[in-house]
Amino acid sequence: MVGHSDLKVIINKEIKNFHSIWLDEKGTINAIDQRKLPFSFEIFQAKDLKQTCFAIKEMVVRGAPLIGITAAYGILQAANAFIGEDFSQLEKKLKNASEELAKTRPTAVDLFNALYRLEAVLDSSLSVTKNIESVKSMVETIVKETLEECRGIGEVGNRLIADKCTIMTICNAGALATIDFGTALAPIRKANEVGKEITVYVNETRPRIQGGRLTAWELHNEGIEHFINADGAAGHLISQGKIDLVIVGADRIVSNGDIANKIGTYTLSVLCKEHKVPFYVAAPRSTFDLKTASGKEIIIEERSGEEVRTAMSIDSINETKAKRRIIHHPFSQNVNPAFDITPAKNISGIITPTEILQQPLEQSIKRFFG
Ligand code: MRU
Repeated sequence: MVGHSDLKVIINKEIKNFHSIWLDEKGTINAIDQRKLPFSFEIFQAKDLKQTCFAIKEMVVRGAPLIGITAAYGILQAANAFIGEDFSQLEKKLKNASEELAKTRPTAVDLFNALYRLEAVLDSSLSVTKNIESVKSMVETIVKETLEECRGIGEVGNRLIADKCTIMTICNAGALATIDFGTALAPIRKANEVGKEITVYVNETRPRIQGGRLTAWELHNEGIEHFINADGAAGHLISQGKIDLVIVGADRIVSNGDIANKIGTYTLSVLCKEHKVPFYVAAPRSTFDLKTASGKEIIIEERSGEEVRTAMSIDSINETKAKRRIIHHPFSQNVNPAFDITPAKNISGIITPTEILQQPLEQSIKRFFG
């Protein structure tokens, strides 16, 4: 585990602090198994690249920054497993590993940014040992930056939150989706930490229920007042003046300021525009994709219809084994786009680790990245 962690987990009435992921001394990835929360708290172990790809694809880990970190650890696992002295063989092995990881999930750019940075450290003029050291050191840099940047987002975003503020969010953009602290949940954590009285409305986030299961679990553990609402209730709540501010995370922010985030985010942005509620996006640097011009070019992951047709549930609060149950007419078809695009014009600003990028976003992003 890397240093201090803020993510609180209540186990047998005792508070323990965790990171959502860590690499142990054997090079095994340990990650909180997000498929099981909030019903049971289990650590998933990925010993090699194949298991690491499984963890991303099957959403043991999820959330853009965490997917990036997991991919980086996967490359390190491949590098550590390399035997030999031939640089071109090492390069080939890491290229294959990169291709496998790139196939896991298409939308969150943090994954591709991490793979690109790790590929860029390879140097044919250096020995295999030195190259593996460079990979390790870049993985450490990516982890450190993610941790620091999420804290930064908390500090910067906290300025938007007044005492007694009511904030709405969607999906899980908390410590679980990063390594610690979160993106959209970072300002909320910080506001709570400095003693502001806040209430959070959590969109349930059908079909995987990342809001109702993961964000609610984090907020409960923090002791932050929150209500889970059905996604369809957001319009009513916003129109009734119940929400002062909406903060969401992002899976990809492209150069014109359009963003991809969990399905339902676009709807929230339109509602905010209609009712003049500030709509902010919070993200670290790794979530920016300056090579893509507009949201139209972002690949939206289409997941199995099974996720819409079924839901995980338990029978009573004392149970820990959730069961997947059919909740729809069993012979109907389903569609399941996992993300949507929110156009830059609907966004009030982007909370970064050092400043809030204001409209026009395209120019602000250009200046921010120099
Ligand atoms: O499908 P998921 O659960 O990986 O989607 C996650 C989201 O959409 C988050 O809001 C986004 O990654 C920001 S997380 C810091």
